[in-house]
Amino acid sequence: MSDASPSVVNIGLIGYQFMGKAHSNAWLQVPHFFDLPAQPILHTICGRTEAKTRQVAARWGWRHSETDYRALLENPEIHLIDITAPNHAHAELALAAAAAGKAVACEKPLARNLGEARAMAAAVKKARTPNFVWFNYRRVPALAWARRLVEEGRLGQVFHVRALYLQDWAKDPKVPLSWRFSGPEAGSGALGDLAAHSVDLVRFLTGDEFSEVCGLTHTFVKTRAPGQMVEGLTARVQAEGKARVRKVTVDDAVLFLARLRSGAIGTFEATRFATGHHNGNSVEINGEKGALRFYFEDFSYLDFFDDTLPRGEKGWRRISVTAGQDPYSGRYWPPGHVIGYEHTFINTAADIVRHLAGETRQFHANFDDGLRCQEVLEAVALSQRRREWVRISEV
Ligand SMILES: NC(=O)c1ccc[n+]([C@@H]2O[C@H](COP(=O)([O-])OP(=O)(O)OC[C@H]3O[C@@H](n4cnc5c(N)ncnc54)[C@H](O)[C@@H]3O)[C@@H](O)[C@H]2O)c1
Repeated sequence: MSDASPSVVNIGLIGYQFMGKAHSNAWLQVPHFFDLPAQPILHTICGRTEAKTRQVAARWGWRHSETDYRALLENPEIHLIDITAPNHAHAELALAAAAAGKAVACEKPLARNLGEARAMAAAVKKARTPNFVWFNYRRVPALAWARRLVEEGRLGQVFHVRALYLQDWAKDPKVPLSWRFSGPEAGSGALGDLAAHSVDLVRFLTGDEFSEVCGLTHTFVKTRAPGQMVEGLTARVQAEGKARVRKVTVDDAVLFLARLRSGAIGTFEATRFATGHHNGNSVEINGEKGALRFYFEDFSYLDFFDDTLPRGEKGWRRISVTAGQDPYSGRYWPPGHVIGYEHTFINTAADIVRHLAGETRQFHANFDDGLRCQEVLEAVALSQRRREWVRISEV
């Protein structure tokens, strides 16, 4: 943030729906809860529909609204471009932001494919511009605390990682063919949308890297009518009248096995068809000295099994991560006064501002982390096509 005023970070946000709302809320709320070295300013929001963009700007307190993202890049007041557009726009927007010398924060997955992700990581490196990926689950307090326990060696050598990301919003065939079902727009389905989070979480929690994968993807509903999702993923959907059905060109579900470089082995499942699960993001790690497990819908809790205790004292412990033992939960309410989904974005926004103001040297997840994740996604897709194991070094 070399040309920035040290006291403010002016944000230009692109996109205003699901993630646009999560990010608007994060930028608005973060100074209320964190003592920050710089003030984030909701400077300009950009959307494609003028009236709607103005309406969203007024609701969240964005000072200006635009319909062409280039206006944000040309505005010298804006320091950070924050991308919440669908996946097909990530590369174009991030490359342009880096070329304009802006810091850039991008929603996950970093890109539709590995080629785009490589270009994006190279562009921010060349421009020497700060870069961030919104892998927000890294900043769930219970998972930040889990990372600390792993770093402190409380699990010892890791044997197993087991990650599930289960949703069920797509199983109704009347859910319309939004960008999320289009290969050209999304890159992939459950793989890039959900398994990307699991891959990132395993990298974050273990500090390990993937070495090879063997995957299978499946599409249950092969065609859908075009239309818009309204009010988020699980709520009402609105198909466009008599529109002709089109082919679904992404996976509805993905399963894969993995080997990590340390010798740990992993199983992964991500699906939009897991009846009864709305946002069932869970991860378990089994190590030589202990084990950890987390389930998103029990947001505040981390389960820990300490296998070093005397035999009669061993057992799963349910730790309420609300007492400020992690870097985030203590910023809000007293212990046991629980926080939730939107706070993962507020926590991420706090760390972005601190990094931009020079308070931290490293930020995770950055575009390199996004690229590492994309390599794994690409290898899983290639494995499905070849019907064999694929080494990450092959992609
Ligand atoms: N971190 C998370 O947990 C999480 C959750 C959901 C979505 N996401 C990611 O966030 C991104 C957006 O997802 P969403 O759920 O908000 O989608 P959405 O469909 O709800 O909203 C997309 C927004 O982008 C705008 N848009 C579409 N095409 C555009 C373009 N070419 N240029 C500029 N704006 C454009 C739309 O008008 C809309 O405002 C995706 O990359 C998705 O994978 C992340």
